[in-house]
This record gives sequence, C-alpha cells and structure tokens, in this order.
Amino acid sequence: MTKHRANYSLMKLVYFFILSLIFVGCKDAPTVHRIIPMPQSIDYTGNSLKLSKGALFYTNLEGLGKSDLANYLELSPLGLKLAQSASDADVIFDIVPSLPDSLNVGGAYMLSINKNKIEVEAKNSAGLFYAVQSLLQLADIHTNGTIIFPTVEIADAPRFEYRGLHLDVSRHFYPKEFIKKQLDAMARYKLNNFHWHLTDGAGWRLEIEQYPELTSTGAFRPYKTWKEWWTGGRKYCDQNDPNAEGGYYTKEDVKEIVEYARQRHINVIPEIEMPAHSEEVVAIYPQLSCTGKPYTSAEFCIGNEETFEFLENVLSETISMFPSDYIHIGGDEADKRGWAKCKKCQRRMKEEGLKDVDELQSYLIHRIQAFLETKNKQMIGWDEILEGGLAPNAVVMSWRGENGGIEAVKKGHSVIMTPAEFCYFDAYQDAPVSEPEAIGGYLTLDKVYSYNPIPEEVKERGHLIKGVQANTWTEYITTIEHVDHMIYPRLLALAEVAWTDVEKKDWESFREGVLKETVWLQANGYTPFDLNNEIGERKEAQTPVEHLAKSKKVIYNSPYSHHYAAAGDSSLTDGLRGGWSYHDKRWQGFLNTNFDVVVDLEKQTDITSVTAEFLQLSGPYIWLPKDVTISISDDGIKYTELTKIENELPTTYDKYIVVPFGWEGNAKGRYVRYQATSCGIDGGWLFTDEIVIK
Ligand code: ACM
Repeated sequence: MTKHRANYSLMKLVYFFILSLIFVGCKDAPTVHRIIPMPQSIDYTGNSLKLSKGALFYTNLEGLGKSDLANYLELSPLGLKLAQSASDADVIFDIVPSLPDSLNVGGAYMLSINKNKIEVEAKNSAGLFYAVQSLLQLADIHTNGTIIFPTVEIADAPRFEYRGLHLDVSRHFYPKEFIKKQLDAMARYKLNNFHWHLTDGAGWRLEIEQYPELTSTGAFRPYKTWKEWWTGGRKYCDQNDPNAEGGYYTKEDVKEIVEYARQRHINVIPEIEMPAHSEEVVAIYPQLSCTGKPYTSAEFCIGNEETFEFLENVLSETISMFPSDYIHIGGDEADKRGWAKCKKCQRRMKEEGLKDVDELQSYLIHRIQAFLETKNKQMIGWDEILEGGLAPNAVVMSWRGENGGIEAVKKGHSVIMTPAEFCYFDAYQDAPVSEPEAIGGYLTLDKVYSYNPIPEEVKERGHLIKGVQANTWTEYITTIEHVDHMIYPRLLALAEVAWTDVEKKDWESFREGVLKETVWLQANGYTPFDLNNEIGERKEAQTPVEHLAKSKKVIYNSPYSHHYAAAGDSSLTDGLRGGWSYHDKRWQGFLNTNFDVVVDLEKQTDITSVTAEFLQLSGPYIWLPKDVTISISDDGIKYTELTKIENELPTTYDKYIVVPFGWEGNAKGRYVRYQATSCGIDGGWLFTDEIVIK
C-alpha cells in the first residue's frame, strides 16, 4: 500500500468517526451506506433528509429519456412519481449544458442532498441514471415507507468508458429472466456493457432465420452438462429428442433483453465465435470445415468462400437484432493444424500470398472487419486476432495476460483489458476443496480489486484502454445459483476497478461495504459467495519451507513448460510452495512428459525424507503421476532406489486435490533423483511445486 493510500484510509477513519458523532442524537440518523463503486468525491454534510415512498420527482429530460427515467424510478424501491413542475418535486433530475471540468465524461453526475431536497445534474441521461443508482444505495428504506438519506454532496464520473460483464451461455444455457437479473445488478454497480457469448461448441444460442438448424439442432445436445458433452462424444440432437438439453434465445427474447438493457444504460454486445470454437456449426454444416465431415473439427475452413457467405449472413442477421456499435467475433484458440493440411486453405494462402496459418486467420479477421465496417460496426476480438497482423480499427480484448493489450495499444488500437489472472470469474474464489467444482485457478475478491487496467508500460497512451471486463465462462457452472456464486461479489470489485480512480479506492472500506451489500444481494434473489466465511489461500503457501535442498541446484532431465515455468530452474528448491492456483507462478508444469529431476545437495548429506506434492484438477488436464520413483547417488551416475510409489487415485477423480508423494527413512548421498511418470493422457500435465528434502 502506498503512503498516500495509507493516509487516505486514516483520513477516512477520522472522517467516519466525526460523522458518527454528528449523527449521535440526530433523531432520523441515517445508516451510512458505502456506495459501490465508490464515487470520485463524496462529502457527507451531517444531516438527513426524510422522504416517503412515492415522493415526487421532476426532470427536464424529454421524450424517451423522460419515460425511461419515470418508469425506472416508479418501479424502484424509491417509488418516485413524476411531478408536473419542479416546484412540486422533492427530487430534481436536470440535464445541464456543462459540469465542472473534472466531470467532463459521459455518465458523470453531481448529486446534492440537503435537508429539504435532492438535486441531480448531469450532461446526459446515463449520468442521471448513475445518480439514481447512488441514491438507491444511499437510501435507508423503512418498511413503513419512510426513506432516509444522509445529506451529501457527490461529484462523480467513471474512470473508464467501458465497464463490462461477459457471460458464456453456450456451455450452459440460462433463461432470459436470469439474464435480466444480471443486467439489474450491472446497473446497480454502474456497468455498461454486457458481452453475451452466444455461440460456442457446446451450443448455439441465437435464433438465425436463415440457418434454422443452428438452433433446432445446434442449440441442443443429449447431455445435461458441458462436462458430459465434452467427455461423451460432443454430439448434438434435435430439439424434439427426448434427451435434448439446451435452448436458445428467440429474436423476441433478444429484443426484450436488448430493450431491458437499454433502459439500464447497458449496451449488449453479441459474440459470434469464429474461426474456432465452432464445433456446433461445422457439425451441422460440415462443408464449412476443412474435413467436410461432421464431428471432426471446431474450425471453419478459411479457403472456402461459403464460410464467408455463412458468416456474413449470420452477422447481418445478428446486427439487425443488436444496436451495439461493437460486434465481438471471438478469434481465440484456433487449432490451425487443419488449415495447414487443407487444400482449399493452402490455395487461399498461395493466392493471397499468406506465409503461414497465422496470416490465414488474419485474412479471415481482416475480411470480417471490413464487412462489419460496411455496417458501421466496430469489431472486437480476443487477443489472438493480433496473430498474423491486426485488422484496422479492431478492438482487442486482452485475456492471455496484458501483453496482447499492450501490443495493441502500441499499434494505436483500442483495448479492453480482461486478463485471466484478474478478470476470469470461472476461477475458484476460495479454497477449491470448499467450493463447487470450477475450472481451476484462484481469484479472490481482493485480487480482482487490486487490478489496475492501465499497465505502466503504456501509461502515456492510457486513453486507448477503453475499459475492463469480467469474463464468466461456464464450462463447470451448471446452475444459475452457481453462476451468481461465481459473479458475486467479485463483480463489485470489478465495478470499482472500472469506475473509481486508483487513488480513491480503499480495500478496507470496500470489503466492509461488500459485506453489507451481500445482504442486499441475498434479499434480491442473488446467491453470492459467502465472504464472511472465506478460508483464504492454501496454508502451505503462506510460509516458506526450510529444508536441505533449499537454494540447491536442480538438473532437469525433462523440460518444464515455458507456459508454466514458475520461477524457472530455481522453482523446485526456492522454499515456496504453491497456492490454490496452478498458475500462481509457484507450481511448475510439465506437458505430455514424465517428470525427472536431480537435486544436487553439493556434498554427502544425511537425509530422512524426500517429498514433492502433485496436483490433480481434471478441468485443465492436470493429473497426478502414475507412479513416483525416488533414488539417491553419491556421484550422480549410479543411483540406489529409495522408493517407488504407485498412485492409487484414478484420473476419473474430478475434485481438486494436492497429494504428497514421498519417502522417509535414513540414507546418505549427494544427488537425489525424483522421477514421476505422467498418467499418459494426451495433453496431460504434471504440476509440482517444491522438492522438500530433510
Ligand atoms: C478465452 O478465454 N478463450 C477468450
């Protein structure tokens, strides 16, 4: 914590102390609710205002803006009703031509509550709407219809123009009403972009009239869960099949959701995945894949003109449903090997002078970007769209860390930051052993809160970073309660990252606020994670371990993966044990290989134990070793086996588990060799964190 922030916290404590003194003895002393996200400037002036539910408000907005505000306020817990003139009203919402310079961005507002009335000023209706959200959080609403507000002066504006939540509805389908509930919460926390991941291998979720099979078959599968689909053959079925699971959103549903979002100042961005994550499309229309056969590919054939015809038709219909300026085209995780073998793709590469399959993917992205431009839409894609050359005006969503975002900013592109380490809400938020099954990782509320979307390296061009987004992938999230559990309260942290200037953020007060806000979430039908009973980081990871091998050299007979190198060659003897997340840079990963290392203790040493832990987590294909062999040597040439341990736990065990494999006894030697045999599953990982020798 910087000195500045420490001072800020202290100031706040003093300030809240004074505030409580002021309110002592005040008959209608309001509860002071912390607004989430914290406004840029908030000044409590020590009194309160009492209104009744159904009090009158006035606005100088006209037309749709006026009716939207009136409908929203009347249905809100404040129940405010529209007055005919300002003089009749207790609450005024005014559009003004200008605000102070510091509030010179869309969505800014000034809110003043004194003992007699509430006055709001903003330059646009979004600003007035965000003031309503602050009012709703400040209000102390009593069952007798009395509403008490603290008197306050707020001047507020968002740090980022793009504040997003993504939801994957392909892996599991969630009903329309559930989507609306997410939009309600987004509005409450002043988020303004809902990124709707509508298509992916596990199910197509958007009605497209020109291609009815996308939904009549592509939206249904004979498996309840993504996991059963993934491991059970990845088939689709007719919607009338008795075993059909899934669903899709009709055009009417989309219209309703887009309108519901609009009333909450939320833009809905559809994502149509290409050229990969498209198993469901190429199963139904196999001619669009390189193999031409169903169930053999997840990628579109880029050599085939029919692919472009299909994609442009689908995008045209999608655009007719979504007014969003942004259209997301996916672009992530293509398996490019099929293109390298495909005659049509090879011909395309030759004709277009494309030197590799990266450039072939880039060819598709460029063409789609140009097509979207003819429709006045701006393309967003995951950071893989950088590979092979980035299309002009494309917006990059940086998910594999921040590097893609940094590179795009350097090239002058706009970026939305969604690095998995801070923004992936499919990760566990507490000890995996206590949580419903998730894909892996470990992302706590405070880690989300700590994120700053503008990397130091591109600070000077920070204006190109349009904002930040939480991504909710749902491979393991089979119920709506579990979706809520993953999103809340982490979304509140993301909202404050997106809205509040760094120097105004304060973890302690935020956490307190979240605990109170959890009560609101529960009362309003959400099922958030229980922050009060958080277990926290794995205890083994909290203190370094002292042992004979610490800082000693490790000789690798099999290489670790550069993607999961942890601390590199020193990782297994740095005294640091891994935490809950395998990508916390303490766990070292070995892909498709056995594990075989030698620790050089530098001199003949008496030893009594050798232990290493391994991780099993089936989602990311991390398995315990089939067996472990530990041996010792004086010269590093001739080894004596100390033990060979068979692993008893089957690979079908699908809960998170860390298992130590070790030897105890008495031995003497200089070199300790630790070998672990991979379980042999193609694409399988071994992960270990430290070889502890005592
Ligand atoms: C992604 O998580 N594949 C964008």
